[in-house]
Amino acid sequence: MILMSDKKQTKAKAASAVLELNDQGNYTVPNNSLYPHQWLWDSCFIAIGRRHLDIDRAQQEILSIFQSQWANGMVPSIILRSRRSEDQPKTDQHERIWRSWLNPNSPDGVATSGITQPPMLAEAITKIGEKLSVTERRIWYRKVFKGLLAYHSWLYTERDPHQEGLVLLIHPWEAGLDNSPAWMSELASHLLPYWVRVVKRLHLDILFGLFRTDEKFAKRHQRMTNIEALALYDVQRRLRRKAYDFNRVIDHALFAIEDLTFNCILIRANMLLREIARFIDEPLPATLLKSMNRAEKEIEKLWDEYSQEYFSRDFVSHRLIKESTIAAFMPLYSGVISKERATRIVEALENAHSYKTDYPVPSTPISSAWFQPNRYWQGPTWVNTNWLIIEGLSRYGFHSQANELKESTLKMIEKTSFFEYFNPLDGTGEGTDNFSWTAALYLDLLKA
Ligand code: GLC
Repeated sequence: MILMSDKKQTKAKAASAVLELNDQGNYTVPNNSLYPHQWLWDSCFIAIGRRHLDIDRAQQEILSIFQSQWANGMVPSIILRSRRSEDQPKTDQHERIWRSWLNPNSPDGVATSGITQPPMLAEAITKIGEKLSVTERRIWYRKVFKGLLAYHSWLYTERDPHQEGLVLLIHPWEAGLDNSPAWMSELASHLLPYWVRVVKRLHLDILFGLFRTDEKFAKRHQRMTNIEALALYDVQRRLRRKAYDFNRVIDHALFAIEDLTFNCILIRANMLLREIARFIDEPLPATLLKSMNRAEKEIEKLWDEYSQEYFSRDFVSHRLIKESTIAAFMPLYSGVISKERATRIVEALENAHSYKTDYPVPSTPISSAWFQPNRYWQGPTWVNTNWLIIEGLSRYGFHSQANELKESTLKMIEKTSFFEYFNPLDGTGEGTDNFSWTAALYLDLLKA
């Protein structure tokens, strides 16, 4: 039994209260006001924390995601859970933005986004499984196996058209690190749409700021810039115009990036899918197994000898996008790189000129021209990426580093509250408070 200090016990109670506050019955919103829907990877992290409180409820969190899976296997990044009431219009703003019903694969009776998010499902399913008896685990795995298999199969059939082993993303939102410099540098250098450039030149983006809903709930300098937000909405609109039909989208894709974070999470998820299948004696299709094996080899091609770092890659040109970001640590989480490479990555983690800040790990290194300690994925420390890094460090036997990062993450939350992200230099909480995955992963780290 782990003995907890009074402070930690009080904080753990507060974490449960945040999850309760954001609980909607069988799913949890990331935050009641800023994010009033269900997000894919948020729900996975939430389930990982919730398993310590109520295992049935953790299972429901995952099952509610599968209920909105598309017929082709895609699991959408957002399930739009509009709370209809007398004083609310029939379709909400997000439903009108996405219009998922334009695609014949979208589910009936529920609106969703038309893209996906990092595939954390297998991890959440397995972590829940760890808490169950062998018989219960078998029942649990059988319940989710079909959906999980369909999702992984979809990822490789649709998003790896050249069968290289890496899946490509068509929108930065799919990477979960929305305005991370790796994506934004592509946008800034050659992908900014004409009309957004005009808006930028004439400073009209200030007007757009008046309509931004996120800034009602979080401070302006802590969100994306208006130009970034406009550009990302423009990409989304282009996808919608093609009804999220990949074959039409890929012809003139604005973004087609083999994202490092996404692929590392997928590689780990593949390994877990294999274990789940073995546990319930289910075969995996030969084509999928081939893709999974390819992925483990292909990731090595994302290594840049000069920078001693892994990067995301452009799908068409195979050019590495050499912007250092938090993604650099995700190969640890994938578990398939060599110990030698892992050691190089840990050196970067310990470098006081880049990632070793007082409240690590910054989403963008302090040495980067992009670094801003308050701005979303361009500097702040996020608890979910810390959690992934801690898992990765432990897997490679870097136990003291894993423990150090765990303790600093817990302290950062204890010092303030369950914020969405934190200033990596002074630990100030940023974005919205009462953020579900911060609360859920606090509980999980406490038990680790
Ligand atoms: C933001 C984050 C994304 C998260 C979502 C809901 O868009 O960038 O990763 O899933 O908010 O919390």
